[in-house]
Amino acid sequence: MAPISALIGSTEDSARQILDAIESQFQLSDDALVRITDQFLKDFRLGLSEYNHPMAMIPTFVTGVPNGSETGIKVPAGYIASIMFFALLALRYSKHLQLLATIGMYHGCTALVWGSAKQHISLHIACFRRLLCCVMPGEPHTWTFLALDLGGTNLRVCEVQLKGNHQFTLRQQKYRVSEALKTGEATALFDYLADSVDAFLTEFPSSPNSAPPDPFATGSSALDLLDTSDSSPAVPLGLTFSFPVEQTALNRGKVLTWTKGFSAKNAIGHDVVQLLQDAFDRKHLHVRCVALVNDTVGALLSRAYTAGGCILGSIFGTGTNGAYVEKVENITKLGDSPARKHGGDMVVNTEWGAFNNTRTTLPTTPYDNKLDRESINPRLQAFEKFISGMYLGEITRNIILSLIDAAPYPILFNGRASALLNKHYGLDTAVMSEIEQAWENGRDQPSSNDKLVNGSHAISNASAAHPHPSLSTPTRHFTEVDKLSPEDRSRLERIRNIVIQRFALDAADVTLRDAAIVHWTSCLVANRAAKLSGCAIAAVLVQTEKAKLGGGFVPKDEKITIGVDGSLIEHYPNFNARLRASVRTLVGEEVEARLNIGLAKDGSGVGAALCALQATKQGL
Ligand code: GLC
Repeated sequence: MAPISALIGSTEDSARQILDAIESQFQLSDDALVRITDQFLKDFRLGLSEYNHPMAMIPTFVTGVPNGSETGIKVPAGYIASIMFFALLALRYSKHLQLLATIGMYHGCTALVWGSAKQHISLHIACFRRLLCCVMPGEPHTWTFLALDLGGTNLRVCEVQLKGNHQFTLRQQKYRVSEALKTGEATALFDYLADSVDAFLTEFPSSPNSAPPDPFATGSSALDLLDTSDSSPAVPLGLTFSFPVEQTALNRGKVLTWTKGFSAKNAIGHDVVQLLQDAFDRKHLHVRCVALVNDTVGALLSRAYTAGGCILGSIFGTGTNGAYVEKVENITKLGDSPARKHGGDMVVNTEWGAFNNTRTTLPTTPYDNKLDRESINPRLQAFEKFISGMYLGEITRNIILSLIDAAPYPILFNGRASALLNKHYGLDTAVMSEIEQAWENGRDQPSSNDKLVNGSHAISNASAAHPHPSLSTPTRHFTEVDKLSPEDRSRLERIRNIVIQRFALDAADVTLRDAAIVHWTSCLVANRAAKLSGCAIAAVLVQTEKAKLGGGFVPKDEKITIGVDGSLIEHYPNFNARLRASVRTLVGEEVEARLNIGLAKDGSGVGAALCALQATKQGL
């Protein structure tokens, strides 16, 4: 049986004072939430009007969101144009039979130039077949895209088939990106990306297709298209690059800065599509990067594809960010560029992870300052460092260490740390999640409605309408563990076991009360993160005129669809419900109740495929 508490007598008072002081530093009053959201809105407007602000508000040149019917049917514009040209020529200068001769001649000439008449003619037949498919009802047709996703915990290569009717299939493989690659030369990193695509195509071929490669065939796979003969089209690939990039077109953009622990040299200021294409070319891979997207844009597009519309895509994972649909007239920094003149809507990648880098509005504690000072990008990505999975474990570790070292008496673990606890980033956010889950298990579930569902299913908002007390009032720090119910004590036992195991501590040094304090610490840090995340979402709702700060506004729209992705929102217990509670405080119950927040699972892959489709339609 574990000792209940190692603290006695007056040490109890000093411990309580220290814990209370920490708790108050992590509280966020409703006023503070409003102030932060208001600053968000100011920074949105600043970033939309001028370049070079930390919250970059990047125009993405994605000018619409899908509705789910996109299938990837495509006939190359060049073929249609050339066929129409010869047909018109023939009609203009010949009589009926000469038309056929002219087309025949055209086939003959191009076949001579390209080497194989048979292959060329079959390509035309496929082309006409596609044309027929476009105008005739029948089976849905699909086209396969490759997607490469860099910026989360792992590198992913995916093969995506857009089937229309909101459906897609996706096969993917994850590859580890070592610290050496993250911080070495950019060419080495991009060579590794190319190698991973190569490995994916070689090691995970699609179901073999015995027919000769037909790039327009229904369900053709990326591998089918990987025919290195010069006449075959290159495999189109969409790149999800989840770092700040100043985009100038759907397939062009310069890296502005690295985030999330990357710092590869000689990438900043370079076109990321070119860096990748150069790597493909160095490896003689017949793959062409046709589109560039941020993961938030991917989440927005894929959620729109599965749900039939969406206004915001946001990531709460290793990093955090959001992309939303903005009126082009509001993106005044585009000046009188063709895009601005064209008007309409454009997806804007906010890069909200860099919100308030000056930390004038964010509620910074000494634990945050320590994290920032010791990070590889001090004074940058301030908001992200309060919110995202890469950092929450580290903030918690900083608090825990301060409690181990507390004076005049240690508050945790008899004053003993482990090698793991002493290690920079030694505590993974996933462990906090595990600890909170151990407490929630078997409880009258506030979190059952907090589950995110794939595809078009939304996250229920029932938990937000009737929040569990522990969502609004973070768990207290249990200075009196011995007064807890037997059920709560057994929950703490579970947590204690996790702490011993995951922190690699000696069991004799871990009391039940220690377990309670570690749980409380996790709740404080995660609760603050979720509330701040609510500020970012509320700011987008206000900016897009779906809500008013302070509430009292009923939007016309029945549902306001939002796509989310990332380990925190998907797996961290109560993160979504806490976030919703914060949104409710900021914009009122009516708006919050209409939020249709759903998981944009595989958003990076599907979003990149949708962008690649858009790009190929534009002939990029
Ligand atoms: C970081 C990146 C951003 C990305 C986010 C989520 O904030 O700068 O581009 O969207 O992480 O992955």
